[in-house]
Amino acid sequence: MNRITLPNGRQLSQIAYGAWRLSEAGDTGVSANLARIDACLEHGITTFDHADIYGDYRCEQLFGDAVRARPALRQQIEIVTKTDIMLLSQQWPGTRVKHYDTSAAHVRASVERSLQRLGVEVIDLLLIHRPDPLCDPTELGACLDALIDSGKLRGVGVSNYMPWDVDLLQSRMTHRLQTNQIELSLMHTAPLTNGQMAHAQQHRMPPMAWSPLGGGRLFSQAQQAGSAAARLAPRLAELAQGCGQDASAVALAWLLHHPAQVLPVLGSNQPERIRAMAAATRVPMDRQTWFELYELANGHAVP
Ligand SMILES: NC(=O)c1ccc[n+]([C@@H]2O[C@H](COP(=O)([O-])OP(=O)(O)OC[C@H]3O[C@@H](n4cnc5c(N)ncnc54)[C@H](OP(=O)(O)O)[C@@H]3O)[C@@H](O)[C@H]2O)c1
Repeated sequence: MNRITLPNGRQLSQIAYGAWRLSEAGDTGVSANLARIDACLEHGITTFDHADIYGDYRCEQLFGDAVRARPALRQQIEIVTKTDIMLLSQQWPGTRVKHYDTSAAHVRASVERSLQRLGVEVIDLLLIHRPDPLCDPTELGACLDALIDSGKLRGVGVSNYMPWDVDLLQSRMTHRLQTNQIELSLMHTAPLTNGQMAHAQQHRMPPMAWSPLGGGRLFSQAQQAGSAAARLAPRLAELAQGCGQDASAVALAWLLHHPAQVLPVLGSNQPERIRAMAAATRVPMDRQTWFELYELANGHAVP
């Protein structure tokens, strides 16, 4: 598995495991979660992507229970988590409306809660989950700088930001932003032309790609006539057969081929599918095959 170096010199595994669906995984006991973590580690996936809200605020705790059961894990993994979304949840009875909160008080308290739930002393990367229309960038930037200086965070980044949102926050910070985690896949190609990928390359911030299989729609919609998934399915299957890998690995290889050093965050809870996708680095991909898949994804040739 390739390792990607962030602007601060720290490294992540190029493919990360996302914990969003962890609480839906059937067996979410410590042993089952350790088995999922082991399936990742076995294939070099050492980076684990969380958010405070995942699983109605329960996934960090489930993962932390596994780390507490095997403390040596901490030295083998990198932990990414996120803050700012406030869900309507029984955990937050005072919340009347779903909203974002990038106030320094909320971000600081959220980091403390994440550290506690995850059972760690430092978070490798904290991301601001969504751009907050009420964000005071001076307040947020100073808060994030201070959290890094205090040793509670090793780095910070953003998620779902447009280039101008990244530039604004960066302009009020001393430390560099490390990544923008965006939706990017054969089912969502907009970042290739909306400025998000260009901006990531301009600032040498390797982007993280969430829902790299379109949340599973790349396969679940393959029978829907006229859909991107239906157009892509036969060619993905052919390419997969040609290299002896799974179609999901070909879809990930399409992301890995981009020169921005994309880090796909995969969401499967099944160890066998994690294994199949970790093989994406062994799928050959050339320029014309990349464009062939891009054309099928978009439903038309490039101009
Ligand atoms: N920053 C953000 O705003 C944001 C937003 C969304 C997600 N994320 C991150 O991105 C991670 C990944 O997102 P995701 O879960 O949507 O990723 P994904 O890998 O695109 O989708 C995973 C889903 O696809 C299913 N799947 C995988 N292979 C399949 C196949 N061959 N046939 C049918 N279904 C298949 C999985 O089911 P099985 O478990 O049964 O394999 C799972 O439900 C999340 O965990 C989270 O960390 C971030």
